Amino acid sequence: MELIIDDIPVKTASKKLYIETYGCAMNVSDSEIVASVLIDGGFLQTNDEFEADVVLLNTCAIRENAEQRIWHRLAALKNNKRKKPGLIVGVLGCMAERLKTKLLEQDQLVDLVVGPDAYRDLPNLISQVEDGEKAVNVLLSREETYAELSPVRLNSNGVSAFVSIMRGCNNMCSFCVVPFTRGRERSRDAHSIVREVEDLHKNGYKEVTLLGQNVDSYLWQNEDGSETCNFAQLLEKVALVDPNMRVRFSTSHPKDITDEVMHTIAKYDNICKYIHLPVQSGNSRILELMNRTYDREWYMSKVTRIREIIPECGISSDVISGFCSETEEEHQDTISLMKWANFDFSYMYSYSERPGTLAARKYPDDVKDDVKSRRLTEIIKVQNQMSANNNLKYIGKICKVLVENYSKKSKEDLMGRNDQNIICIFPKGNHQKGDYVNVLIERVSVTSLIGKVIE
Ligand code: SAM
Ligand code: SF4
Ligand code: F3S
Repeated sequence: MELIIDDIPVKTASKKLYIETYGCAMNVSDSEIVASVLIDGGFLQTNDEFEADVVLLNTCAIRENAEQRIWHRLAALKNNKRKKPGLIVGVLGCMAERLKTKLLEQDQLVDLVVGPDAYRDLPNLISQVEDGEKAVNVLLSREETYAELSPVRLNSNGVSAFVSIMRGCNNMCSFCVVPFTRGRERSRDAHSIVREVEDLHKNGYKEVTLLGQNVDSYLWQNEDGSETCNFAQLLEKVALVDPNMRVRFSTSHPKDITDEVMHTIAKYDNICKYIHLPVQSGNSRILELMNRTYDREWYMSKVTRIREIIPECGISSDVISGFCSETEEEHQDTISLMKWANFDFSYMYSYSERPGTLAARKYPDDVKDDVKSRRLTEIIKVQNQMSANNNLKYIGKICKVLVENYSKKSKEDLMGRNDQNIICIFPKGNHQKGDYVNVLIERVSVTSLIGKVIE
């Protein structure tokens, strides 16, 4: 029989939960939802995996090496289970959704497999495991947005927080596994988003990043259709919560970003002048094979428009090297586009074929590994040179920086970001996390600006 204390079954009341997060910001945000669901279910959160009764890995499936990391981590967790035989090990997130019950078949250690839309079911599923069964819920939903749940801010600096505004993705980029792991796109109730930002503001937070795979297609409608809100309108509502609350967002899609969004960014001082606008390739034939639904010229016209409407805007990108059938000339098109756009920063990857995607079914993964990595190295070299040059233009300028934390290298220095999302490092003086400071930039590296606070 189960004893009940304060409505919490004792069998879970003392259980400790440890969550490890892999992959993108969306997964970081999801782990906060998972913590909220389980803490409501009577669990205590711990940062020590060895005192945990339940270890959850919130996983990513975007490239093969992301999944390899999880297999290695699961192998290491065998030791934890040897020391603590009752330990429950769960795999959540995109890899759980992709592999489903195959995860149980491939690794005896795994007790629990839960996809991104099934986190409300976690307390039940864990009970099932406690009763000696394996538990799986990988149902995807057309409605779930976890709108009214209050995320538990894990490992937070107390200054910046992620706010999820939509889930899933309706695009079918041929290389990408996300539509399969996260299901159809759905937008979260605009009022619940604004409430979450207001709560963060009351709790002292100074910056929010609105998250979605394609924020420009955000479109929420109330039940009777009398109220609608698009992304530009949502940005405005969030910006109006407080002028000292910085607003960032990710990711924008070149096919959908509108002038209305750009004008809204330009209109509000607290909307950061920074857009992450992944290009993936600079060649129109490859973009078509990728099913990105824009070509090189369209992408260039969007960058031109951003620079017209928000001249001081930072722009960053994602780039894939060695996509199926990419020739040397097409690779050079990517390099020339990167140079033309003069990105401040890029996330750069070698193409990794993902089972079940359109590309895996239609196009041979025929660029050899050594060619992919050589092209990737070339792309990284070009980006590093541009980043260093772009950073140089800040020397002698003053940047408004929101202090986020100590610098990684020294407790005597603080770090934060300027409007354009570039990391700034400076001596701490009397400043602390959450302060806005004006930093005079004196030196730069490829990744950061270094200076001192001007009072
Ligand atoms: N929704 C965002 C967009 O469309 O720009 C991207 C989200 S995805 C999580 C992040 C990045 O991973 C992509 O922009 C792409 O550059 C990269 N990526 C996705 N699938 C990949 C694959 N199969 N191989 C290599 N990189 C991949
Ligand atoms: Fe993947 Fe394309 Fe959707 Fe981004 S927009 S998540 S790359 S399918
Ligand atoms: Fe993110 Fe990886 Fe899933 S990048 S959406 S956690 S596949």
